[in-house]
Amino acid sequence: MALMGSIPRRCVNLPPGALRRLIGCAAAGTVQEGPALDAFSRRFAEWLNVPYVFGAASGREAFQLALESSGLEKGKEIIFPSFTFPVMPMVAKLLGYKPVFCDVDPKTFNSGPEHIKPLINERTGAVLATHLFGQPCAIQEISELTRKHKLLLLEDCAHACGVRVDGRSVGTFGDIGVFSFAEGKNMPCFGGGAIATANEDIARRAQEVLSKASIPGKGKILKKSFFIWMLWLLTRPEVFGVTVYPALRLKLLLGQPLMDSEVGNELLGTFAGSNPRVHKLANLQAELGLLQLGRIDAFNEGARRNARILSESLDGITGIGIPSTKTGDHIYVYYPLTVDPSQRNELRSYMLRHGIDAKITDMSDCSLLEPFREQAGGSKRQGGPKEASILEVCVYPVISEKSIRRLGQVLRSWAQA
Ligand SMILES: Cc1ncc(COP(=O)(O)O)c(C=O)c1O
Repeated sequence: MALMGSIPRRCVNLPPGALRRLIGCAAAGTVQEGPALDAFSRRFAEWLNVPYVFGAASGREAFQLALESSGLEKGKEIIFPSFTFPVMPMVAKLLGYKPVFCDVDPKTFNSGPEHIKPLINERTGAVLATHLFGQPCAIQEISELTRKHKLLLLEDCAHACGVRVDGRSVGTFGDIGVFSFAEGKNMPCFGGGAIATANEDIARRAQEVLSKASIPGKGKILKKSFFIWMLWLLTRPEVFGVTVYPALRLKLLLGQPLMDSEVGNELLGTFAGSNPRVHKLANLQAELGLLQLGRIDAFNEGARRNARILSESLDGITGIGIPSTKTGDHIYVYYPLTVDPSQRNELRSYMLRHGIDAKITDMSDCSLLEPFREQAGGSKRQGGPKEASILEVCVYPVISEKSIRRLGQVLRSWAQA
């Protein structure tokens, strides 16, 4: 069993001092409210170079806050990329909007103006431009298009915290940028999310919405934070190799499911049944955010470096597709490998046997999901859903260069066989 040098499917990027903040806030009674909240909003706004930032309890709640603050008339169509995290269009649907889905580029998985434009009509109210897997979409061109058609432009930056296009942060090109600080993203803050905007009316409405929102209970925040800290520990490669990895190997041997999270219709069912509402960001999460802001650029650079090493070692490989970098900065929050859907599980098992845990993506071809089927008329689908061909691997800087090179060799040996 490959224990040393094994690679987890995702590493939780907590900053040094995270546990100390958790214990400190619990002891001082500042888990929910405290001085870090204003400080974090100010510092995050400065870092993005945008006038207003408002925190929320998650990325999806930040999107709900964005829509509730947008002034967008109910019933309007919102154009989403068909391949995305399906909870986002579900939020729009639950709020009384109509999600419609445009195609995405098969190489970058992002939508550009060429995909969005054909869906614009008199019912269109907004576009959600998404920077998937850490790669910016053609946001300048999309912004030109939405300005021309007087549409609201929202940006989903859940995978793109710290991505810049011509020196400008994503999330500041549209009317509202939406960020996630969940444990699976590059800047986890024991959960949380935020919106960024330069629009005073939107900022005023966001303040109104938040003034009526509550903060999750102290016990709930602490429990979640401790759970995320445990995930951080278990996904340190050296700890993973002697804990979760052997459990996964045993599951593989017994033919059991490999601890996958809910995706697609199942995920949507759980989410829709959860009575989604906007909650405020907690002070403990803002404390983590302040710590993260001091190191996120260096972290992103480390992921970029590892991704470059992996891409170089896979150059020219056949049978496995690697991410293309069509549009500038890319921070590889996830590194998606593509493979023929009939071979995906076989490749995953092979990788696991060689010490590498790969993740089935949480993204879905939304136009094929149950709640959106009737709304998917606009896009022409070919073949099966995109997610069936994707395996995500982790290239975060906590993974050593040696392990990344070994990952390249494992993939090459599979492709050659
Ligand atoms: C592209 C994308 N947008 C938004 C979200 C929602 O973020 P959160 O999980 O913090 O609600 C996710 C979560 O995985 C995502 O992948």
